[in-house]
This record gives sequence, C-alpha cells and structure tokens, in this order.
Amino acid sequence: MTTQAAIHLIYLISTAFFILSLKWMSHPATARRSVPVGALAMILAIGGTLLYPEIVGYQWVITAIIIGAVLGVPLALVPLTAVPQRTALSHAFGGLAAGLVGTAKYYLWLGEHGLTPFRTGAIVAEIILGFLTFTGSLMAAGKLQEIIPTRPLTYRGQNAVNLALFAGAVAISVLLVANPEHSHYFPVIIGLSLLFGVLIIIPVGGADMPTVISLLNSYAGLSAVAMGFVLENKLLIAAGALDGASGLILSVIMSRAMNRSFRNIMFGAFGKIQSSAAEAEGKSVKSASAEEGAQILVTAQSVIVVPGYGMAVAQAQHGVRDLYNELTKRGIDVKFAIHPVAGRMPGHMNVLLAEAEIPYDRLFEMDAVNPDFPQTDVSLVIGANDVVNPAAHHDTSSPIFGMPILDAGKAKSVLVIKRSMNPGFAGIENELFYQDNTLMLFGDAKTMIAELVRELAKEK
Ligand code: TAP
Repeated sequence: MTTQAAIHLIYLISTAFFILSLKWMSHPATARRSVPVGALAMILAIGGTLLYPEIVGYQWVITAIIIGAVLGVPLALVPLTAVPQRTALSHAFGGLAAGLVGTAKYYLWLGEHGLTPFRTGAIVAEIILGFLTFTGSLMAAGKLQEIIPTRPLTYRGQNAVNLALFAGAVAISVLLVANPEHSHYFPVIIGLSLLFGVLIIIPVGGADMPTVISLLNSYAGLSAVAMGFVLENKLLIAAGALDGASGLILSVIMSRAMNRSFRNIMFGAFGKIQSSAAEAEGKSVKSASAEEGAQILVTAQSVIVVPGYGMAVAQAQHGVRDLYNELTKRGIDVKFAIHPVAGRMPGHMNVLLAEAEIPYDRLFEMDAVNPDFPQTDVSLVIGANDVVNPAAHHDTSSPIFGMPILDAGKAKSVLVIKRSMNPGFAGIENELFYQDNTLMLFGDAKTMIAELVRELAKEK
C-alpha cells in the first residue's frame, strides 16, 4: 500500500469513529464510551496527517504537542460547573489556529504567486470565522468566569454598528477575492473579524452564554471546513462539518428549550435583573426545617425530584442518591424530572445523576414527566428555579414567557431547597415559591439533603 493510500484509509476510519462518537454521545447509556472513541478518532487523524511526505521535520510538531498538552491537561481538570468556559477557551484556540493557518497559507501562496480566487475565497472564509470565533469565545469565557461583566453591555445603535462591521469585512473580502494579490486588504479583514467577535458577544448576557458558545462552536467547525478546502484535506472538511452541524443543532435544541429565537439570544440583552413583583405585592413564603421536610417525604407515595443548577454548584448529587435510597427502600416511587436546560450546559443534570449512579430509567424528560405532577404527592425541587417558574405559562411580560417548564407546582406538596430568595439565571422572581402548597427548605443543597437523609434514617 502506498503512503497516500494508507493516509486515506486512516482518515476514513477516523471519520467513521468521529461519527460513531457523536452518535453515542446522544444517549446517557452510551455517552461514556463515545469519549474514548472520539479521542481515538483524533489520534488517528493526527497520526495519519503526520505520515504526509511533505513533513520534513518533526521538531515543531513535537514542540506544539508539548505546548498543547501543558495547556490542555489543566484545562481538562476544571470542575464540571466550569466546563462551559473551558469549552469556550477550547473554541478560542481552535478559531485562532484556523485563523493563523489561513494567514500563513495566504502569505505563502502570495510569495509563490499561487493565489487563485477559489483559494483566496476559502482563506477569507477561514480567517473571518476563525478570528471572530477566537475573540468571541474569549469574551464568552471571560463572562462565564466573571472576569468581565456578565450583564449585557448595550448602547444605542449597537446592532447597526455590528452589522456594518460584518458587512465591511465581507465587502473587503470580496475585493480581495477579485484581486488576490492586493495584500493590503488582508490585515484589515483580520482586524475587523477580531473586533466583530468582541462586539457581537458583549451585548449577550452571561445567562445565554452556553447557547452562544455552542453557536461559536459551529463557527469554529465551519472555519475548519474552509481550512480543509485551503489545505485540500478531506478529513478536516468532514470533521469540521460534523463540528459545525452538531454545534448548530445543539444551539437550536437549547434555544427551543428556552423558547427563544437566535435573534433574541444574540440581540435580546436577556439577563437584566427584574424587580420582584411578588415581593411588591406583599406575598410571603412559608419555610420549614429539614425535620418537617422529612416528615412530608416519608408520608408520600410518590416523589418527583427536580434538580437544577444549585444541585450542581453544591455538588449535592451523591447526597441525592442517599436520599433516593432512603425513599425507595420505604416503597416510595421516586422519579427525576430533567428539564433540557436545567443547569448550565446541555445534559448537565444527566451527567451529575449518572455520576451518582442514579438508575437511568428513573430519569424522565420534561414531556414524559409533566403529566405525572398532578398525581404526585411531593415535588422536591433542588436548586432549580427558572425551569419550574409558572410565569413562563401566563406572564406575557416575563422574559421566560413561553419557555416550556416542569410543572412541579402542580404536585400536592412542593419542597424547594435553595439558600435564599435570590433569583436564578434569568434574574426573575418565581411565584412557585409563594404558592400555598410550597414549603421552602432554606440552605445549601448538599447540607440540606444530608440533613433530610439523617432525619429519614431516624424514622426507621
Ligand atoms: P437557575 O434558574 O439558575 O436557579 C438556580 C438556583 O439554585 C438559584 O435560584 C439559586 O438560589 C440556587 N442555588 C445556587 N447555589 C445553591 C446551593 N449551593 N444550594 C442550593 N441552591 C443553590 O437554575 P435552573 O432552574 O437549573 O435553570 C437553568 C437556567 O440556565 C435557565 O434559565 C436556563 O435558560 C439557563 N440556561 C441553561 C442552559 C443549559 S444548556 N443548561 C443554557 C443557557 C441558559 P439561591 O442563590 O437562593 O441558593
């Protein structure tokens, strides 16, 4: 077999593994094995590429691998709640790499008089998407890490400025494609793309960042596709297309789950804190102790647990498993209701509950579990807020109006574990907490769950 044929075969196997990995990622039962398969696909992709006869020395490749590993290993060890900003940083590096490869290729071909309109077109697509993904993802990571203000930063005429900037970059790119050797256009396109990446992200609130990151992921993928055309590398085109499509599909799933359009996410300045209507109306909440909470749970026949971001922050999932054991051994039917955007990233709750070894068949998606709430004795809401806010059904002025929610408030009793009356991600009051059938168990989720388990254990 020739080297060329070997490379093609390796690329084919690698592409198949990338597809398989994505397919397995879509179900909790197979998600774990999708990770090593994806890693194997990437190792094959790199290994196959290193076989290219054009590579005359490996010293730079090895240096880059060492730098990548030194940066990548600590990045992989961040806690689960920091994964959205970690992912944003990875996209930033991906975008920067694509932008730099495109830049190198442009100047290389410029020197060799090898620039054709097709090559230049592919290069400008690569550098615009790559560089805007770079700065956009850095801004997104900065907002999520709260290094820069998470609130939407807006000013009058912002959308028009952004649009003009993007249109300017595209117009200059068209001029460059028509005259590939007019190299003075090139740095202008880079500058406009870098600036556009910053300006497009600052009006987006921290709350919408996971969706935006997923969108940036698809830009990085498309940039890789363009890079594949530049480098005439089929695997890069296939892997970039998979990345671009899956990022886009994920953003669509997330925005649907929040009932928001892309336009609203990118330009809606969502996440501004609103004043509390219920407090203004003088309503009050009822709170209870862990002992009282345990009494209610122990007399129930059916319980639906609604986990949210607070359970993730408190790392309460193992305690939740103990609680599940305590309840099920008394013959109580316990289900877990999973909202598609509970927490801060797709599948956040599934990952945590799987880590705590809660059986998959006890996890129910929103549409499957919602009809069960009215017949259920207790909804136990653990650090969830927006995803159980009934205002989404009827308050047309609410920023979450129309977002599908878990109908936790329809159970006979509702127990809510959170530390205070502070709002959740959307920054809005939750009328569920003021309902007659709701009792608040104020405290850190991990501590409160441990207390509930202790109280239940006493009840034997
Ligand atoms: P949130 O509405 O953000 O509410 C979380 C609640 O947890 C807060 O009200 C907070 O109240 C409580 N909390 C925080 N730390 C806690 C701790 N240590 N112990 C106990 N409670 C704690 O969460 P949710 O209901 O999961 O909703 C997710 C939100 O994120 C939605 O608005 C959704 O649109 C948005 N979002 C999600 C995604 C994805 S993909 N998941 C993507 C984009 C946007 P206290 O401070 O009073 O404790």
